Amino acid sequence: MKRVVAAPAAVDGRQFADPAFSATVIAWQKQHGRHALPWQNTRDAYRIWLSEIMLQQTQVAAVIPYYLRFLARFPDVASLAAAPVEDVMAHWSGLGYYTRARNLHRCAQQVVDLHGGAFPADPALLEQLPGIGRSTAAAIAAFSHGARAAILDGNVKRVFARVFGIEGYPGEKKVEDALWLRAEALLPQADMASYTQGLMDLGATLCTRSRPACPRCPLAPRCDAFNTLRTAELPVRKPKKTVPQKHAAMLVVEHDGHVLLQQRPGSGIWGGLLSLPEVGGFAPLEGPAAAIPVLGEDALLQAVLPYGVAESSERLPALVHGFTHFKLHIMPYRVRLARRLPLAAQEGHVWLARPQLAEAPLPAPVKKLLLAMD
Ligand code: ADE
Repeated sequence: MKRVVAAPAAVDGRQFADPAFSATVIAWQKQHGRHALPWQNTRDAYRIWLSEIMLQQTQVAAVIPYYLRFLARFPDVASLAAAPVEDVMAHWSGLGYYTRARNLHRCAQQVVDLHGGAFPADPALLEQLPGIGRSTAAAIAAFSHGARAAILDGNVKRVFARVFGIEGYPGEKKVEDALWLRAEALLPQADMASYTQGLMDLGATLCTRSRPACPRCPLAPRCDAFNTLRTAELPVRKPKKTVPQKHAAMLVVEHDGHVLLQQRPGSGIWGGLLSLPEVGGFAPLEGPAAAIPVLGEDALLQAVLPYGVAESSERLPALVHGFTHFKLHIMPYRVRLARRLPLAAQEGHVWLARPQLAEAPLPAPVKKLLLAMD
């Protein structure tokens, strides 16, 4: 059973009430909105529910043929509930996001088992069924029963963020809560189907992410983003994750066509793989990548001392490798040895001949670096 999410107390959003908003949306929808989509002009909750689930992550044009085929095979909730899940999946095949199809089937079975084969009219009950979230529950209830319930899908969030100049990324809880409060406060007293469809139509056809058609939009005169030239900035985009940066100096020690490698500890990053010997391990990087400390000649000679006598050294261009939790800037130093010492004292070290490198268990960026060298 899903958690029942209580709608925010209406009193909180009362200051946002604005009957002119819904009146504008409704009038525009009636004159300019979409009226001939296959799931419109019906109050059949089964058809409405099916379309809303299909439209959750898929565009209208892609949904239409699937919707029509699905409905021909499963004309009502009872036939869907009774069908083998494989049959349901086969009719969904190509639409993607297959959890939707599995939930669709489970939902149909629950409507039959728990609600006598009729979708409930109450959005709070709809929301407890598999695959139906708060916005989808509201859409189904509004279209099938004219219920006063607020939708808030991605398109509608964009319309609200622009019209009301709502700052902050809408995926953030605080911003989403503020949007829900608006959505609830703006509901009209009647004509819920036209209002709900109007919001969807505005978001999908005029108030698009890039190049919105503001000159044709009925809300433009009162749209904060339009009036302050900020339609490109609102809604605020998902903030880029700032991952910590680390750096590591790595030695490419060479002698007689061989490269020195060191086995990494069994657990942790690159666990058990062969890698290049490091000087100082992975160190946090303070400041920009340009601030990576450079090993001086002395430090370099000192670092290769256990392996032999250096003949020449050069710093190679840095390379960057992204892990899930941090970004590693690898600073490679190439050191050719005039003479190499026996490795007995250096546990876990091996010399590999260059032709062996391609097949060796090396971390991807290390292998790339070594194979690109001449
Ligand atoms: N997207 C989600 N629901 C929709 C609907 N009923 N019509 C058009 N697009 C939609």
